[in-house]
Amino acid sequence: MDQAERLRNRIKETERMPVKPMETNARVITVTSGKGGVGKTSLSVNLALQLQKMGKKTVIIDADFGLANIEVMLGVHPKSNISDLIYKDCSISDVITQGPEGIGFISGGSGVSELVNLERSDVQIFVSKVAKLDAYADVIIIDTGAGISDVVQEFVLCSPEVLLVLTPEPTSTMDAYALLKTLNRRKDFSTSDKTLHVVSNRVANEKEGQTLFQNISIVASQFLNIPLHYMGYIPQDSNATKAVLQQQPVSISYPNTISTKSIRYIAEQLLEVEGSMKPGFVGMFLNLLHVKRA
Ligand SMILES: Nc1ncnc2c1ncn2[C@@H]1O[C@H](COP(=O)(O)OP(=O)(O)O)[C@@H](O)[C@H]1O
Ligand SMILES: [Mg+2]
Repeated sequence: MDQAERLRNRIKETERMPVKPMETNARVITVTSGKGGVGKTSLSVNLALQLQKMGKKTVIIDADFGLANIEVMLGVHPKSNISDLIYKDCSISDVITQGPEGIGFISGGSGVSELVNLERSDVQIFVSKVAKLDAYADVIIIDTGAGISDVVQEFVLCSPEVLLVLTPEPTSTMDAYALLKTLNRRKDFSTSDKTLHVVSNRVANEKEGQTLFQNISIVASQFLNIPLHYMGYIPQDSNATKAVLQQQPVSISYPNTISTKSIRYIAEQLLEVEGSMKPGFVGMFLNLLHVKRA
């Protein structure tokens, strides 16, 4: 295939990509936690499925390095990752793998940490390609690892919306507080341009969910001056554990189980509180570069 042919194919592919009627920026939500294993990946995947069902085109970006979590949960095998946008002749549609219900999935691979160290000319290429993602998706969910690593902190710092996942284990709240404290020390952290949502996962009931939120919310506002916003709770649900073992998202295997219903409710809540700032993925990425180089 010569270059001209490749280009023609590329244009054809771009035309095939369904684009939203209005070229507004995507809503970017970064899912994180202080501690690992609290349900971030499960929530990212099932929230994406619910939002997609509600008519929002949703793309998940896996920014949890090393573990091919989402791939296993969705049963998809991406052939490329986000850094191929720079290093290979790829368009954004090449790096989006189609998952169930039409959700999109982009593997971060090792790419995400490379992105923050790009040359100027590569940044331009990347931004121009990623701008298409902002036009294509209504919501972009970024699944991260626990907030201890630098890259995760940078993502949280730059994301217009953050979803912090807690569980009733005492270390979960302590580690989440430690994450907020670390962020608060950074001079580039500001709560004026971001919303921090909290989801209480694996709780016994609504009251326990609220108590978990209250506990962290009080100390965060009192000692760090960080306002937190409660997004809801997900009960402990044996079907959620089973679904992971079956390598299927719980909202597909068990559409009427308690955790699926709660995530559906959280998705509805999210759509009600549209973030005021929508810099999109491009805006977030440019922020990321700024933070890195500051
Ligand atoms: N509401 C829930 N009820 C029961 N098990 C859950 C629930 N949420 C998550 N889990 C289980 O917790 C484990 C860790 O979830 P995962 O999403 O991989 O966490 P993380 O991405 O934070 O490391 C999985 O086995 C998952 O099935
Ligand atoms: Mg995970």
